[in-house]
Amino acid sequence: METFLNLAEMRRSVRRFEGREVEQEKIDYILDCARMAPSAVNYQPWRVAIIRDEEGLEKLRKCYSREWFASVPACMVILGDKGRSWKRPYDGHDHADIDVAIFTEHLCLAATEVGLGTCWVCYFDPEEFARQFDLPDNLYPVVLLPFGYPADQAQPKKRLSTEEILIDL
Ligand SMILES: Cc1cc2nc3c(=O)[nH]c(=O)nc-3n(C[C@H](O)[C@H](O)[C@H](O)COP(=O)(O)O)c2cc1C
Repeated sequence: METFLNLAEMRRSVRRFEGREVEQEKIDYILDCARMAPSAVNYQPWRVAIIRDEEGLEKLRKCYSREWFASVPACMVILGDKGRSWKRPYDGHDHADIDVAIFTEHLCLAATEVGLGTCWVCYFDPEEFARQFDLPDNLYPVVLLPFGYPADQAQPKKRLSTEEILIDL
């Protein structure tokens, strides 16, 4: 891995994983990388749960019932903390989602660096999540992030070109 562009290109959504367990050192490493993420006013309004036991994974399957997800070996849940996040005084806009998104992408890029795959999942049922997991009022789930050793093949990336994303203001 030579450049950031290599890493960014290598990061992809992995939806099929080997059964073998991820070493604790790798989990510690990617969490350290995520902890370094910037956040509004440095409030760091993120929490993360690591779910590897069958009971927890079954609860997650009730919130996101896609076929591929049924066999993931492990999953992080990245949560926002509304009690900690910065709200912009002009309009009250809560920045928790932005902060959690940056944190999550740090997790994903660090996982890629150490040979792991991840997939952002936001299309889960938050009400079912609340039924399954007993969360304090300030916390809410933002991303489910299955992770493990990839067992599928990289596909060509479809991305807008620089010309397509640049606009004049
Ligand atoms: C905010 C966000 C939400 C996503 N939610 C889902 C999801 O619910 N299920 C899923 O299979 N993929 C989900 N994805 C993965 C995207 O489909 C994927 O990132 C996109 O197609 C680009 O492919 P790549 O990640 O392999 O580069 C999500 C990605 C992001 C950033």
